[in-house]
Amino acid sequence: MTGRTVYADNAATTGLSERALSAMMPYLAGDYGNPSSLHKFGRTARLAVETARCKIAECLGAEGGEIFFTGSGTESDNWAIKSAVRLMRDRGRHVITTSIEHHAVLHTLEHLEKEEIEVTYLGVDECGNISLDELISAIRKDTVLITIMTANNEIGTILPVREIGAIAREHGILFHTDAVQATGHIPIDVKDMCIDLLSLSGHKFKGPKGTGVLYVRNGIRLPSDIYGGAQERNMRAGTENVAGIIGLAAALEEAFENLDQNSLEVASKRDRLIGGVLNIPEVFLTGDPIARLPGIASFAVEGIEGESMVMMLDRYGICASSGSACSSGSGAASHVLQAIGLKPHLAHGSLRLSISEDTTDEDIDYILEKLPVVVESLRRISPLWASGKNR
Ligand SMILES: Cc1ncc(COP(=O)(O)O)c(C=O)c1O
Repeated sequence: MTGRTVYADNAATTGLSERALSAMMPYLAGDYGNPSSLHKFGRTARLAVETARCKIAECLGAEGGEIFFTGSGTESDNWAIKSAVRLMRDRGRHVITTSIEHHAVLHTLEHLEKEEIEVTYLGVDECGNISLDELISAIRKDTVLITIMTANNEIGTILPVREIGAIAREHGILFHTDAVQATGHIPIDVKDMCIDLLSLSGHKFKGPKGTGVLYVRNGIRLPSDIYGGAQERNMRAGTENVAGIIGLAAALEEAFENLDQNSLEVASKRDRLIGGVLNIPEVFLTGDPIARLPGIASFAVEGIEGESMVMMLDRYGICASSGSACSSGSGAASHVLQAIGLKPHLAHGSLRLSISEDTTDEDIDYILEKLPVVVESLRRISPLWASGKNR
């Protein structure tokens, strides 16, 4: 239908940055040593991995020894939660989270509930925010872990992580945050925010896919969750993904160098996009209007299915998503949209446009030109819209 492509699905994944790619290239070709080897190939790889660890630590306000490499954000979430609960088993079995976490957190907790861990799922308001008073009231004598995301992947809402961290610290409870969607897009300082455990993922900020980090605050003796060799100081067995680690560090460093300027520029494009999309009748913004990630614009479009919109936008060369990529295709309205109280007919019409610093003004214009056409033509054939039941 068109030769033009506009990639507006950066919350699902981003393209590799040129800087990350060129940093990785030597380790995919000539410098292919195993960091555990004693010879010069091994030493070259080891030096590169340790340099990457220090760069990442610097970006997060951490120390090199607090950074552990994993194979994804999902693995980091799993490790943090399962092992924190194991570590604290003698002190209690209660965990607090929210109802809008990513499945990497929610499904891990569901699994733990079968092992007699009790979980309190805090509700959220219509913007996706938690109440700090509710958090404090949910704390019990046997609460050992609070796991709350830094920002939501579907609606972009940024949660009050600094305040949550302070509450957890005051009560002597471990605090883990899933910062997969936030890292590289908003400032993060693990010490200042009283974060004990933090998960991040390389492919959300122009690093390679299949790379992740778990930050573990010094002094926390988190048990290992993968057994085998002595890699990652006996904490995470398996030969390191050397090129991936180098790429993640280069992308994170680049993102942090340009964080202030990029987030201002991206947020201003996002706001123009939001303003334009909201001109379409019966379209509503989801998520917090102010405390939201710079790149995420998310909507509920009345009278049509999100999936149909995504498919028709794709025919115009526009890559978007409905809810999170992971729940797309399941047919069920996403748990996040249900948690913010969207009525099913609106939750089914969810659309997420996630942009980056590479998104041009022309890209935004193009989306704003085509989306109304898509919505109108789908509404024309929608029995729901025609019956006017929703209006
Ligand atoms: C908030 C959040 N947590 C965890 C993940 C999982 O990260 P990964 O794709 O690296 O496994 C995602 C991915 O979309 C996410 O958005």
